[in-house]
Amino acid sequence: MSKNREIVPTEKEIVMRDDQFIVSKTDTKGRITYVNRVFIEISGFVEPELIGYQHNVIRHPDMPRGVFKLLWSSIQEGKEIFAYVKNLCRDGSYYWVLANVTPSLDVNGNIIGYYSVRRKPNPRALSIVSDLYRRMLAAERQAGARDATAASLDLLQQVLNEKGMSYEELVFSLQSH
Ligand SMILES: Cc1cc2nc3c(=O)[nH]c(=O)nc-3n(C[C@H](O)[C@H](O)[C@H](O)COP(=O)(O)O)c2cc1C
Repeated sequence: MSKNREIVPTEKEIVMRDDQFIVSKTDTKGRITYVNRVFIEISGFVEPELIGYQHNVIRHPDMPRGVFKLLWSSIQEGKEIFAYVKNLCRDGSYYWVLANVTPSLDVNGNIIGYYSVRRKPNPRALSIVSDLYRRMLAAERQAGARDATAASLDLLQQVLNEKGMSYEELVFSLQSH
Protein backbone atom coordinates (compact mmCIF):
# COMPACT_ATOMS: atom_id res chain seq x y z
CA MET A 1 0.00 0.00 0.00
CA SER A 2 1.22 3.46 -0.84
CA LYS A 3 2.07 5.69 2.06
CA ASN A 4 0.82 8.80 0.28
CA ARG A 5 -2.83 7.76 0.13
CA GLU A 6 -3.94 10.38 2.63
CA ILE A 7 -2.43 13.29 0.68
CA VAL A 8 -5.05 15.31 -1.19
CA PRO A 9 -3.62 16.53 -4.51
CA THR A 10 -4.02 20.26 -5.22
CA GLU A 11 -3.58 22.37 -8.36
CA LYS A 12 -0.51 24.10 -6.94
CA GLU A 13 2.55 23.53 -9.10
CA ILE A 14 6.16 23.69 -7.94
CA VAL A 15 8.37 24.53 -10.90
CA MET A 16 11.93 23.23 -10.81
CA ARG A 17 14.76 25.67 -11.45
CA ASP A 18 17.14 25.11 -14.36
CA ASP A 19 20.03 24.48 -11.98
CA GLN A 20 18.26 21.89 -9.81
CA PHE A 21 18.74 18.14 -9.98
CA ILE A 22 16.63 15.77 -7.92
CA VAL A 23 18.49 12.55 -7.12
CA SER A 24 17.36 9.32 -5.51
CA LYS A 25 18.57 5.75 -5.29
CA THR A 26 16.58 2.60 -4.60
CA ASP A 27 17.25 -1.05 -3.94
CA THR A 28 16.18 -3.62 -6.55
CA LYS A 29 12.61 -3.56 -5.18
CA GLY A 30 12.21 0.21 -5.57
CA ARG A 31 12.66 1.04 -1.89
CA ILE A 32 14.40 4.38 -1.44
CA THR A 33 17.94 4.19 -0.07
CA TYR A 34 19.13 7.75 -0.77
CA VAL A 35 17.68 11.16 -1.57
CA ASN A 36 19.54 14.44 -2.11
CA ARG A 37 18.74 17.82 -0.53
CA VAL A 38 16.81 19.06 -3.57
CA PHE A 39 14.51 16.01 -3.40
CA ILE A 40 13.65 16.96 0.18
CA GLU A 41 13.30 20.68 -0.58
CA ILE A 42 10.92 20.18 -3.49
CA SER A 43 8.86 17.21 -2.29
CA GLY A 44 8.47 18.57 1.23
CA PHE A 45 9.02 15.13 2.79
CA VAL A 46 11.68 14.65 5.43
CA GLU A 47 14.30 11.93 5.10
CA PRO A 48 12.73 9.48 7.61
CA GLU A 49 9.49 9.56 5.56
CA LEU A 50 11.39 8.51 2.45
CA ILE A 51 14.30 6.20 3.29
CA GLY A 52 13.17 2.59 3.35
CA TYR A 53 9.81 3.37 1.72
CA GLN A 54 8.68 2.48 -1.80
CA HIS A 55 9.32 5.18 -4.38
CA ASN A 56 5.58 5.39 -5.00
CA VAL A 57 5.43 7.58 -1.87
CA ILE A 58 5.58 10.53 -4.33
CA ARG A 59 3.34 8.95 -6.97
CA HIS A 60 0.76 11.36 -8.33
CA PRO A 61 -2.72 9.96 -9.15
CA ASP A 62 -2.57 11.70 -12.56
CA MET A 63 0.27 9.39 -13.64
CA PRO A 64 -0.79 6.45 -15.79
CA ARG A 65 0.37 2.99 -14.73
CA GLY A 66 1.59 2.39 -18.29
CA VAL A 67 4.47 4.83 -17.83
CA PHE A 68 5.70 3.02 -14.71
CA LYS A 69 5.37 -0.32 -16.48
CA LEU A 70 7.61 1.04 -19.24
CA LEU A 71 10.02 2.37 -16.62
CA TRP A 72 10.30 -0.91 -14.72
CA SER A 73 10.56 -3.15 -17.79
CA SER A 74 13.40 -1.00 -19.15
CA ILE A 75 15.45 -0.84 -15.98
CA GLN A 76 14.89 -4.51 -15.11
CA GLU A 77 16.31 -5.36 -18.53
CA GLY A 78 19.36 -3.30 -17.64
CA LYS A 79 18.43 -0.33 -19.85
CA GLU A 80 18.09 3.29 -18.80
CA ILE A 81 14.93 5.26 -19.44
CA PHE A 82 14.01 8.92 -19.79
CA ALA A 83 10.44 9.78 -18.82
CA TYR A 84 8.27 12.73 -17.95
CA VAL A 85 6.81 12.22 -14.49
CA LYS A 86 4.34 14.27 -12.46
CA ASN A 87 5.14 13.86 -8.77
CA LEU A 88 3.23 14.60 -5.59
CA CYS A 89 4.55 16.79 -2.77
CA ARG A 90 3.79 16.20 0.86
CA ASP A 91 1.33 19.14 0.90
CA GLY A 92 -0.52 17.93 -2.22
CA SER A 93 1.26 20.24 -4.70
CA TYR A 94 2.81 18.69 -7.78
CA TYR A 95 6.02 19.05 -9.78
CA TRP A 96 6.92 17.80 -13.22
CA VAL A 97 10.32 16.28 -13.90
CA LEU A 98 12.22 14.76 -16.76
CA ALA A 99 13.58 11.66 -15.06
CA ASN A 100 16.51 9.52 -16.13
CA VAL A 101 16.42 6.17 -14.32
CA THR A 102 19.35 3.78 -14.62
CA PRO A 103 20.21 0.39 -13.18
CA SER A 104 23.34 0.18 -11.01
CA LEU A 105 25.43 -2.90 -11.77
CA ASP A 106 28.03 -4.83 -9.79
CA VAL A 107 31.30 -6.05 -11.35
CA ASN A 108 29.52 -9.13 -12.71
CA GLY A 109 26.80 -7.07 -14.37
CA ASN A 110 24.11 -7.93 -11.83
CA ILE A 111 21.59 -5.23 -11.00
CA ILE A 112 22.12 -4.09 -7.40
CA GLY A 113 19.76 -1.11 -7.37
CA TYR A 114 18.51 1.85 -9.34
CA TYR A 115 19.48 5.49 -9.61
CA SER A 116 17.45 8.45 -10.80
CA VAL A 117 18.38 12.01 -11.71
CA ARG A 118 15.56 14.41 -12.55
CA ARG A 119 15.75 17.81 -14.10
CA LYS A 120 13.39 20.54 -15.14
CA PRO A 121 11.30 19.51 -18.12
CA ASN A 122 10.74 21.83 -21.05
CA PRO A 123 7.58 23.73 -20.00
CA ARG A 124 6.35 23.60 -23.62
CA ALA A 125 6.43 19.78 -23.50
CA LEU A 126 4.10 19.55 -20.54
CA SER A 127 0.76 20.35 -22.16
CA ILE A 128 1.43 17.61 -24.73
CA VAL A 129 2.61 15.14 -22.10
CA SER A 130 -0.29 15.87 -19.72
CA ASP A 131 -2.74 15.40 -22.55
CA LEU A 132 -1.15 12.06 -23.52
CA TYR A 133 -1.10 10.88 -19.88
CA ARG A 134 -4.73 11.98 -19.43
CA ARG A 135 -5.71 9.81 -22.39
CA MET A 136 -3.67 6.88 -21.05
CA LEU A 137 -5.33 7.23 -17.65
CA ALA A 138 -8.78 7.32 -19.25
CA ALA A 139 -7.95 4.14 -21.21
CA GLU A 140 -6.86 2.51 -17.93
CA ARG A 141 -10.07 3.45 -16.15
CA GLN A 142 -12.17 2.20 -19.02
CA ALA A 143 -10.30 -1.11 -19.22
CA GLY A 144 -10.65 -1.88 -15.49
CA ALA A 145 -7.89 -2.81 -13.06
CA ARG A 146 -6.83 -6.09 -14.64
CA ASP A 147 -6.34 -4.79 -18.18
CA ALA A 148 -5.43 -1.21 -17.30
CA THR A 149 -1.70 -1.32 -18.00
CA ALA A 150 -2.10 -3.14 -21.31
CA ALA A 151 -4.79 -0.70 -22.46
CA SER A 152 -2.65 2.26 -21.52
CA LEU A 153 0.44 0.90 -23.28
CA ASP A 154 -1.65 0.09 -26.38
CA LEU A 155 -2.77 3.68 -26.54
CA LEU A 156 0.78 4.95 -26.05
CA GLN A 157 2.04 2.60 -28.78
CA GLN A 158 -0.68 3.84 -31.13
CA VAL A 159 0.36 7.45 -30.56
CA LEU A 160 4.05 6.55 -31.05
CA ASN A 161 3.26 4.61 -34.25
CA GLU A 162 1.43 7.64 -35.64
CA LYS A 163 4.51 9.75 -34.91
CA GLY A 164 6.94 7.05 -36.05
CA MET A 165 8.86 7.43 -32.79
CA SER A 166 9.89 5.44 -29.74
CA TYR A 167 8.93 6.82 -26.32
CA GLU A 168 12.53 7.96 -25.86
CA GLU A 169 12.51 9.78 -29.20
CA LEU A 170 9.22 11.46 -28.24
CA VAL A 171 10.72 12.58 -24.92
CA PHE A 172 13.77 14.10 -26.59
CA SER A 173 11.81 15.74 -29.37
CA LEU A 174 9.51 17.34 -26.79
CA GLN A 175 12.43 18.41 -24.64
CA SER A 176 13.94 20.40 -27.53
CA HIS A 177 10.53 21.52 -28.82
C1 LIG B 1 15.22 4.84 -9.15
C2 LIG B 1 13.72 4.96 -9.26
C3 LIG B 1 13.14 6.22 -9.25
C4 LIG B 1 11.76 6.38 -9.34
N1 LIG B 1 11.24 7.65 -9.31
C5 LIG B 1 9.90 7.81 -9.29
C6 LIG B 1 9.33 9.10 -9.18
O1 LIG B 1 10.02 10.13 -9.18
N2 LIG B 1 7.97 9.19 -9.10
C7 LIG B 1 7.16 8.09 -9.14
O2 LIG B 1 5.93 8.24 -9.04
N3 LIG B 1 7.68 6.85 -9.27
C8 LIG B 1 9.02 6.69 -9.35
N4 LIG B 1 9.53 5.42 -9.48
C9 LIG B 1 8.61 4.30 -9.72
C10 LIG B 1 8.00 3.75 -8.47
O3 LIG B 1 8.84 2.73 -7.97
C11 LIG B 1 6.60 3.12 -8.72
O4 LIG B 1 6.67 2.11 -9.69
C12 LIG B 1 5.57 4.17 -9.20
O5 LIG B 1 5.49 5.25 -8.31
C13 LIG B 1 4.17 3.58 -9.38
O6 LIG B 1 3.70 3.04 -8.20
P1 LIG B 1 3.19 1.56 -8.15
O7 LIG B 1 4.28 0.72 -8.78
O8 LIG B 1 2.91 1.28 -6.74
O9 LIG B 1 1.93 1.57 -9.00
C14 LIG B 1 10.91 5.24 -9.43
C15 LIG B 1 11.50 3.95 -9.43
C16 LIG B 1 12.88 3.81 -9.37
C17 LIG B 1 13.47 2.44 -9.39
